[in-house]
Amino acid sequence: MDTSALVLPDASLPTAERYSALTATLSALLSGERDVIANAANASSVLYFGLVDVNWAGVYLVRGNELVVGPFQGRPACVRIALGRGVCGTAALSRRTLVVPDVHEFPGHIVCDSASLSEIVVPLVAQSRLLGVLDLDSPRRARFTDEDARGLEAFAAVLVAGSDWGD
Ligand code: SME
Repeated sequence: MDTSALVLPDASLPTAERYSALTATLSALLSGERDVIANAANASSVLYFGLVDVNWAGVYLVRGNELVVGPFQGRPACVRIALGRGVCGTAALSRRTLVVPDVHEFPGHIVCDSASLSEIVVPLVAQSRLLGVLDLDSPRRARFTDEDARGLEAFAAVLVAGSDWGD
């Protein structure tokens, strides 16, 4: 696609509409492309630049019993996270979206950027196979709500369905 035509939604849009617009942008970027690295890279960029108060947005991919960092936007991150560890590993193991209003209160939270105060992690699952997680951090406490969870789950579903994740 011609990415010069890409316009990210206005920061003043209500949350649900902003996620609809970001998901539509992702669908357009993914059309005709199924490479998971390319698609996860553009998905990270859309979230990082399309949302306010986000200092890290990216994907961890399942490799054996671990999550390994994939495409992201933000400061360098820890590379490997065991399933069940940290916010990412906990969300991955439970296969449920995890909203953490204050990362300092989450036992076992893994610090990647000391500026991060809150976090949301959405598991990426296709036909009951765990593929990875979508992870966003914020420098603002309690940045993410249930509305963010629903919006990011719909966004993640487009990334999952539109990409080849390998065997
Ligand atoms: N905080 C995460 C680690 C990943 S970084 O935030 C990018 C965790 O506790 O799993």
